[in-house]
Amino acid sequence: HMMCLLQILAYGDPANATCVVCQKDCRGTVFGLEHAVGKVTGHGTTMLWKVDRLTVWDTSLICYYNTDAGDQCSSILDITIYQPPESVSISFVNHTGMMFENQQYTLQCSVQNVAPVQSLTVTFYRGNTALGHLQSRSEKKKPVNDTFTLNITPSREDDGAQYWCEAKLELGPAGPQCPPVVTSEKLPAIEIDRPHVITITEGDTLHLNCSSVGNPSPSYTWTLPTNSSSYSGSVLTIKSVGFEHEGQYICTVSNTVGTVTKEFNIDVQGECCQILPGKRVTEVQSQYYFTN
Ligand SMILES: *[C@@H]1O[C@H](CO)[C@@H](O)[C@H](O)[C@H]1NC(C)=O
Ligand SMILES: *[C@@H]1O[C@H](CO)[C@@H](O)[C@H](O)[C@H]1NC(C)=O
Ligand SMILES: *[C@@H]1O[C@H](CO)[C@@H](O)[C@H](O)[C@H]1NC(C)=O
Ligand SMILES: *[C@@H]1O[C@H](CO)[C@@H](O)[C@H](O)[C@H]1NC(C)=O
Repeated sequence: HMMCLLQILAYGDPANATCVVCQKDCRGTVFGLEHAVGKVTGHGTTMLWKVDRLTVWDTSLICYYNTDAGDQCSSILDITIYQPPESVSISFVNHTGMMFENQQYTLQCSVQNVAPVQSLTVTFYRGNTALGHLQSRSEKKKPVNDTFTLNITPSREDDGAQYWCEAKLELGPAGPQCPPVVTSEKLPAIEIDRPHVITITEGDTLHLNCSSVGNPSPSYTWTLPTNSSSYSGSVLTIKSVGFEHEGQYICTVSNTVGTVTKEFNIDVQGECCQILPGKRVTEVQSQYYFTN
C-alpha cells in the first residue's frame, strides 16, 4: 500500500522526518528512504532524514519496504517550499494626475519573487475596504514575478481615497499558522476633477434641462446616480431634492446624425442654519443643435 503526506516549509528552513518502514513481522530485507537532498541516519527499519537548510524548490521523500512475498509498501512525503513575496508594489496603468468620475482606470499590483505562485492571493484595498481578491493563473514551484490588475471607476467618494494591495500566501492547514502577508505602499490620495458642480438646497426643486434641437428630432437617455429608475425625457425634474439625489446626471442626446452627452454634478446642501427664502427652483439648461 501507499500513503502520501505533505509538509510545507519555508525556503532555507531546517527540516527533518522519520521513516519507520515496518512495525511488526519485519522479515523483508529490501527497504530504504529515497531522498534527493539532506542526510539519512538511523538503524534498521527506523530512519531519520535531516537537512540543515532547505535550498531546493521541489523535493520529496519516499519511504519503502518490500515484503518477502514481493509486495511493496511505500509512503511519499511531498515537501512544498514557499517564499513570501520579496516586494509588492501598486500603480495605475498609464495614468497620472487628476481623475474623472465614471471613467475607468486600471490598478496594477506587482508581486516579486514569490513561491508557490498558485497559493498567492492578491487583494486590492481602497482605504480599509477590500475591493477584490485575485489569484494567479500560473503554477510554478520556483519563485516568479506576477502582476494583477483591477479596473476601477471612481465616484465622488473616491476623492482623497488611497489605494494599496496585499499579497498573501494561503498555504492551507499544513502551512504556517499566520499566512505570510506583504503589503504595498499606499498610492497618493486620489483627486477627482468635478467640474460644473451645481449646488442646491435640500427640499428645493431642480430642473435639468437637456432639450436639444435636431433633425431628426433627438431622443434622450439619462444616466442617474442611482440606477433604480431610467428616464428618457428632455427635462428631468426633481420636485423636492434630498441627499439621495446627489451625484452625477448624464444626459445623452442622440439622433441619426450624432450623439452628445451633458454632465450635471449635483451637490445637495442641508437646510440647517440658513435663512429660508422659501422654495426655490434651480434650472440648469444646456442646449445642442445638430441637424443634417
Ligand atoms: C500604455 O500606453 C502606451 C502608449 O499609449 C500603450 O502602448 C500601452 O499599450 C498602454 N499599456 C496598457 C497596459 O494599456
Ligand atoms: C522579478 O523581477 C525582478 C526585478 O524586476 C528581477 O530582478 C527578477 O529577475 C524577476 N524574477 C523573475 C523570476 O522573472
Ligand atoms: C428647456 O429648454 C428649452 C430651450 O431653451 C425651453 O424651450 C424649454 O421651455 C425648457 N423647459 C423647461 C421645463 O424649462
Ligand atoms: C443597479 O442595477 C443592478 C443591476 O441591474 C442591481 O443589481 C442593483 O441592485 C442596482 N442598484 C440600485 C441602487 O438600484
